[in-house]
Amino acid sequence: MTGGLVENLETASVASEADLNREAYRKLLDDLFERRRAARVGGPDAARRKHRERGKLLARERIDVLIDPGSPFLELADLAGEGLYEGVPPGAGLITGVGTIAGRSCMIIANDATVKGGTYFGMTCRKHVRAQRFAWDNRLPCITLVDSGGAFLPDQANIFPDEGLFGSIFHNQVGMSADGIPQIAVVLGACTAGGAYIPALCDEVVIVRGQGFMYLGGPQLVQAATGELTDAEALGGATMHSRVSGVTDHLAENDAHALSITRRLVAELPASARPRRTQAAPAPALHPAERIYEIVSRDARKPTDTRAILKCMLDAGELQEFKAEYGNTLITGFGRINGHQVGILANAGVLFTESALKATHFINLCCQRDVPLLFLADVSGFMVGREAEAGGIAKAGAKFITAMSSASVPKYTIIVGGSYGAGYLAMCGRAFRPTAMFMWPNGRAAIMGPEQAATTLALVRRQIAERNGQEWTAEVEKAFKDPIRREYETFANAYNFARNLWVDGVIEPAETRDVMTLLLDIASRTPRRETRFGVFRM
Ligand code: COA
Repeated sequence: MTGGLVENLETASVASEADLNREAYRKLLDDLFERRRAARVGGPDAARRKHRERGKLLARERIDVLIDPGSPFLELADLAGEGLYEGVPPGAGLITGVGTIAGRSCMIIANDATVKGGTYFGMTCRKHVRAQRFAWDNRLPCITLVDSGGAFLPDQANIFPDEGLFGSIFHNQVGMSADGIPQIAVVLGACTAGGAYIPALCDEVVIVRGQGFMYLGGPQLVQAATGELTDAEALGGATMHSRVSGVTDHLAENDAHALSITRRLVAELPASARPRRTQAAPAPALHPAERIYEIVSRDARKPTDTRAILKCMLDAGELQEFKAEYGNTLITGFGRINGHQVGILANAGVLFTESALKATHFINLCCQRDVPLLFLADVSGFMVGREAEAGGIAKAGAKFITAMSSASVPKYTIIVGGSYGAGYLAMCGRAFRPTAMFMWPNGRAAIMGPEQAATTLALVRRQIAERNGQEWTAEVEKAFKDPIRREYETFANAYNFARNLWVDGVIEPAETRDVMTLLLDIASRTPRRETRFGVFRM
């Protein structure tokens, strides 16, 4: 009787914990949806109106017409550039993502001409380059919907001089082409100066009569440079390029016509490879994905039960665990997502020598068996202290990093909680070029947590103050630590990572299975890449 009462009370308190977590997550989702909504709108009302009055479809409408009706569009980096440029909505004037055209997965890259004439800011360049890298890694045809004034001239330092910026778009195009990645450009508006090389470097170019223009220098520039008087149509119009210069290949009458020609061109591409991995019959997860909102701890100081999350993500909630009894601050094992096999590495505490060795062994296995890796990061870092150092944690961590970095199977990273320091790196951080990397809205990442950063810097500062005979009171320490804590919290925020393109996007936990299904499907059609491991420090 008494036992029953205790049990009931426990259930009640567990339920309320779940309710509180769900309530906290609801606010995070509202925030995500609001940011996405701002990104979807595009440029200001007046610019959108002007665009429509010219008989053009908005950039997102073009994508809707281009992809197969009712098929999903997995948008990448939709929040890149958020708040970085005055008057520019999230997305940096470019839409990138994977869509299905005539049954074929393609990378779609579309300028939004309603945002500063579709010009390229530094972030726009980086986003375009990232989309190309994604297409290249996954061997996706690249379809570019061009409507852009080229470089946003005031931002030239972030566009022009370095690797990874505008010039890299061309460099990638050439490399992708040599590697057999089909590239099609559709010129639906302006295509000016350096930007004109984007279509010129494609396999096939579609252009719209009276609407698409391509030139290395516009009429004003030509007049300034040579004194020649000309207009846009004569200088770089669709008819001239299709009949005289041969710069374009297909002449369309309007947006819809151009997009229908493009669909036909994609349909005529050689078929994509068949999946090279055996896919099991898809099965739903053990628990609905929404259950994740009850599990993710609303308090960063309280750990989240990663195993419970896996039950909401994997088919039938099944994980064939590897070394379940060893190094258990890292969960490793094989599971399936909608029938696609993945090797999971998920944190369940601080990384110790044993967990790092286990990760190394498991990654080695996955490479041998050609199984893609999914890193679910929620880690405060590697264990520190005399015992850990004496136990050789540095060489165990080095083995983990060598295995993860060398692995040539597709790698995916999702930051599902806090991801800090070398733990962030070992769990396939951005520097290790995961095939795709996302954060959940509650995700955070930084060199260390806000409290540790404030305390470390305060200890250094205190030593200096004492050396100089200055007073170091509790008040001085508080005034010193508060702004550092705040700065670290702001930095670690998922949207800071999305804004700076340090991740490919912020995704809802509940959509993670769908996103992974699409990614695993396209990766399964890429050729196997043999892994060559670097030297393992023994
Ligand atoms: N750099 C910076 N800002 C630019 C720009 C550029 N290259 N091209 C356009 N803009 C800005 C405009 O100043 C305007 O800003 P605002 O919204 O704050 O007023 C906005 O983009 C829209 O320009 P607008 O000319 O009104 O739009 P449009 O649709 O009629 O024409 C273009 C768009 C791109 C065809 C036209 O602006 C143009 O020809 N720009 C110059 C392109 C060029 O020479 N680029 C050289 C790159 S190396």
